[in-house]
Amino acid sequence: MKKQVFKFSSSSTEVHFASGISYLKKIADPKAAVLITDENVYNAHTKRFKDWNTIVLKPGEEYKVQATVDAVVEQLIEMEADRKTTLVGVGGGVITDITGYVASVYMRGVRFGFVPTSVLGLVDASIGGKNGVDVGAFKNMIGIIRQPSFILHDMAFLKSLPQQEWENGFAEIIKHACIKDAAMLAELEINSLKSIPKQPERNL
Ligand SMILES: NC(=O)c1ccc[n+]([C@@H]2O[C@H](COP(=O)([O-])OP(=O)(O)OC[C@H]3O[C@@H](n4cnc5c(N)ncnc54)[C@H](O)[C@@H]3O)[C@@H](O)[C@H]2O)c1
Repeated sequence: MKKQVFKFSSSSTEVHFASGISYLKKIADPKAAVLITDENVYNAHTKRFKDWNTIVLKPGEEYKVQATVDAVVEQLIEMEADRKTTLVGVGGGVITDITGYVASVYMRGVRFGFVPTSVLGLVDASIGGKNGVDVGAFKNMIGIIRQPSFILHDMAFLKSLPQQEWENGFAEIIKHACIKDAAMLAELEINSLKSIPKQPERNL
């Protein structure tokens, strides 16, 4: 397993590459953590959430709204989450955006981390500290820039990712390669997208 630490002006983010969710116990105490996920991820990987307090949200962009934030805050209050609680978003970009935002406003800010489960989440949405929700037709209209304490990669989640979501994520990877990485673009050109999901641990 490879760990890399990224430093920012007033914080840092540990990225744990090629880990497993079992490693999460080393960076977050299950008694003082709440995992936030969506129904698709939870139903496909229920066993992985065993031992963790978990809030399960409806999936989809239409739920990336303030009403969901309010509902999560109410559940956190019921669970008696406090300033020592760590929130962990386990999901695609919708879940990590909501989790980072809730963690930034709950009790004026608690520790948070991400376990991105979509390709787009791994290569884009979990990175950079942008957290927020949509307002009506306006995407990401409210939010905050705050870096997660950690990002943990568990490629086994990708086994249940629908083909359409692989394609969405790879559009972002191809864009990155076109702008900045000729070697990656050459590799993408000789591999078909169909072959990559079969071996996510090797290829991503
Ligand atoms: N914060 C940022 O910098 C940033 C950057 C890019 C995108 N985003 C945001 O990310 C969101 C898009 O992210 P996304 O494409 O991951 O969308 P998403 O979170 O809606 O996930 C896409 C679909 O895949 C499902 N899914 C995710 N992981 C799965 C898994 N392992 N198995 C089965 N199903 C799974 C989800 O339930 C959902 O139905 C948008 O809201 C966008 O604004 C944020």
